[in-house]
Amino acid sequence: MVVLIPLTMIVIGGSTSKMLAQDLAKELGCKYMQAHTSRFPDGECYVRIESEDIDEEVVVVQNSHPDSSLVELLLLQDAAVGLGARKVTTVVPYFGYARQDERFKKGEALSAKVMVRLMELSSKKFITVDVHKPIVLDWFNGEAHDVHAAPCIGQFFKGHGIDLVLAPDEGALQRAGEVAKVIGAEFDHLEKTRLSGEVVRMAPKNVDAKDKNALIVDDIISTGGTIEAAANQLKILGAKSVTAVCTHGLFAKGALDRLRKCCNAVYSTNTIENEVSVISVAPQIAKALR
Ligand code: R5P
Repeated sequence: MVVLIPLTMIVIGGSTSKMLAQDLAKELGCKYMQAHTSRFPDGECYVRIESEDIDEEVVVVQNSHPDSSLVELLLLQDAAVGLGARKVTTVVPYFGYARQDERFKKGEALSAKVMVRLMELSSKKFITVDVHKPIVLDWFNGEAHDVHAAPCIGQFFKGHGIDLVLAPDEGALQRAGEVAKVIGAEFDHLEKTRLSGEVVRMAPKNVDAKDKNALIVDDIISTGGTIEAAANQLKILGAKSVTAVCTHGLFAKGALDRLRKCCNAVYSTNTIENEVSVISVAPQIAKALR
């Protein structure tokens, strides 16, 4: 029997991550506090953690995306330090700007590195989920962990009749494999073949999708273009159903409505809270905190 020693931590949820932070506190069996956040008439952010002095470790849970949330995160970290927190650990479920990990063109900013520098101003331990470019974690001076959402996604779909888990490209194959292992399904990645100047075919590289209940797994859904193209092709190939799931559901520009037209169902984890964020990554984050 595993005996869990109660942790002397306080989990504080910022405005982007209230549900996840509460799940996390429950998972850890520790105290939860909702930070108070508001905006001054000129748009500046105001935060307050309503508490007496804190002698425990504080875990601040807040996204760095969109930009206004980053300011809230920095202020929450400082508020925790101001209350005397023994240690401030920062959980950023969705690490915005992680796609700009290089100066791709001369004169660009190295955005991901700027974010790292800011986020470690008042915090020595950092946890994120399915960071787009893991190299950014090497830039933290303190401890930094990337947690995988795949076990939680797999658990959610277990027993739901999924036969085939697909990554939209080869780079995402490992994630699809992790999800498939939990479900007990086969997995593959989609491959694009240019048939002519205008015609591009997208199909699973090794597996036949005909009559299968397919699940496409990606780290981010932004405009939904990637999933839309994949889902339409899978239907053409005879898939019985196509479900899409991602870790970070940004769903920009009406992506969710568009995806509902080409997929049987769309889900995301709760790293970004939205109407389909029904899969909690709290169990995986809790493991990294213990
Ligand atoms: C790409 O490298 C990512 O893993 C996602 O596939 C991409 O960000 C999805 O973007 P969109 O939803 O705009 O196609």
